[in-house]
Amino acid sequence: MKKLIAANWKMNGQADWSDKPAQLSTILDGTIPKTAQVLICPPSVYLTQIADNAHKYGMNAGAQNCHSAESGAFTGEISAQMAADCHADYVICGHSERRAMFGDTDAVVQAKATSVIQSAMVAIICVGETLEQRESGAANSTVEAQLRASIPEASTALNTVIAYEPVWAIGTGKTATLDDIEKMHAHIRSVYHDMFGARSAKDLCIQYGGSVKPSNAKDILSTKGVDGALVGGASLKMEDFAKIILAA
Ligand code: 13P
Repeated sequence: MKKLIAANWKMNGQADWSDKPAQLSTILDGTIPKTAQVLICPPSVYLTQIADNAHKYGMNAGAQNCHSAESGAFTGEISAQMAADCHADYVICGHSERRAMFGDTDAVVQAKATSVIQSAMVAIICVGETLEQRESGAANSTVEAQLRASIPEASTALNTVIAYEPVWAIGTGKTATLDDIEKMHAHIRSVYHDMFGARSAKDLCIQYGGSVKPSNAKDILSTKGVDGALVGGASLKMEDFAKIILAA
């Protein structure tokens, strides 16, 4: 399986960042390594431009969020189909920042992911424990509960990616140990196995996210059960993001 290396730009960027896929391609000498699949998730107002440019250079694009409804009185929101209309291939659902700041409960995340799948895109469903939960020994049970309540019934390994992002590792410079990452990815795969069967679990892409950077990407990406990375801060500089892609 190719490693899915995804940039989550969060609320960063501006109109002239539409040339970032071209910049990234130049740094990579025009070739994406065969072992990597590259995904860029910009703010949704820039999605069409970034998606069209990403596709030109053999990359994918995604939205960072969507609403679960098809349309309606939801000021400021976009539907999954609108993201698809902007040529998105993926939508991130239930990022911990959305869970913590914007009321994305497991049920909301599940509804969003369902609409992403219905719009023929891939849902990247984010899960992860807080530091308090890890320190109290509740990391596995927290993540398991999130998985069971956030993954839609229609999930398959083709339409779903799971991103394991320990909340305490996001934007802090701290990463989980390789041992903790390996154990949690195995746990996620076994929960998914229990929910959807062996074949789906084997093919499921599970990304790690949380302070992934050029200096730790190789170790993280070669950890057993890690099928990709969801990168925040280090995805804003194409030189750094390219190094992470090359680490795959
Ligand atoms: P950082 O890479 O900045 O820690 O962010 C991780 C993240 O939240 C990606 O979705």
